[in-house]
Amino acid sequence: MTTQDSINVPSAGESNSAIATANANIALIKYWGKADEDLIIPNMSSLSLTLEGLETTTRVSFDTASHSEQTDLLYIDGKQQQGNALRRVSALLDTIRSMAGIHSHAVVTSHNTVPYEAGLASSSSAFAALATAASYAAGLKLTRRELSRLARRGSGSASRSIFGGMALWHAGHDDDSSFAEPVPCPMDLAIVVVLISGSSKKISSREAMQRSVTTSALYNAWVESNAKDLHDALDAIKREDIAALGPVVQTNSLGMHATMMTAKPPVLYWLPGSVAAMQAVEDLHSHGMNAWATMDAGPNVKVLTTAAEAAQVEQALRDKLPGFEVHTHVAGPGARLLPAEHDI
Ligand code: PMV
Repeated sequence: MTTQDSINVPSAGESNSAIATANANIALIKYWGKADEDLIIPNMSSLSLTLEGLETTTRVSFDTASHSEQTDLLYIDGKQQQGNALRRVSALLDTIRSMAGIHSHAVVTSHNTVPYEAGLASSSSAFAALATAASYAAGLKLTRRELSRLARRGSGSASRSIFGGMALWHAGHDDDSSFAEPVPCPMDLAIVVVLISGSSKKISSREAMQRSVTTSALYNAWVESNAKDLHDALDAIKREDIAALGPVVQTNSLGMHATMMTAKPPVLYWLPGSVAAMQAVEDLHSHGMNAWATMDAGPNVKVLTTAAEAAQVEQALRDKLPGFEVHTHVAGPGARLLPAEHDI
């Protein structure tokens, strides 16, 4: 799969309607902070793994004259959405409408198939599925690179979920140059997720990253170290060296959280369970297991390991952290269109 490939086209359905699925991704080298808030141009490039089993499936139907709506309608997991969720979806639909030269509103129905309630990189799968379904429903036939740029405007991390497996989002400097592309990964990696809490966060990643950029004295230093982390991570992947990759991934995430903790006022997503999980990972590591932790804008802990060791790591974490759900995810596919008759 390359960035210039176009997306698979399933059997034709209604021409104004399309369904797509995308999988969530977890960043190994993080994106945290924007150079351009409107276009979502990041201050740094980032690297992620798209995961199997964490999916959003979305149907977008642009209005036909027979049921003309006054606004876009959004349903997520059976519940109609208003407010910020609807505003963000409508903003991306506006971009697509202006690209396609159409004016009709859309009905968007979205379903998340996660093995547990919530709280996991869902904006990456959500906006990748939305960009894919909505652009196709609007009559646009975009390449994966174009879809990545479009998904980015919904949520930065979504630019990477257009691709399966490992994806590198080049920061770029404008709308054209800021896109993700696949990176060959000769290792079979896995992420073991320790679900500390499924509740939605009180401070959005958008607000938290802005606060880190504008008020943390550590932010610029982290951006600088991020460039070296990315270089070292890519090098370790090429050499199939998980023992070199793991520490870079863990330090990169801790550095990002350091910029949050030193923001004014501070952003602390960690819960006591997050600390317990980090210490459990430390313990596995000291017993010679390949296990390194990464955290995002929330309290959940994701443990990088190899697919071969994942079952052992998962069991050890279950034993050490009774009461928390633990699930393993291996690399998953990129965004794809589904046949029109697919039921969601
Ligand atoms: O795409 P957003 O706005 O949900 O931001 C994602 C930020 C992190 O998940 C913390 C890091 C990343 O690169 O995915």
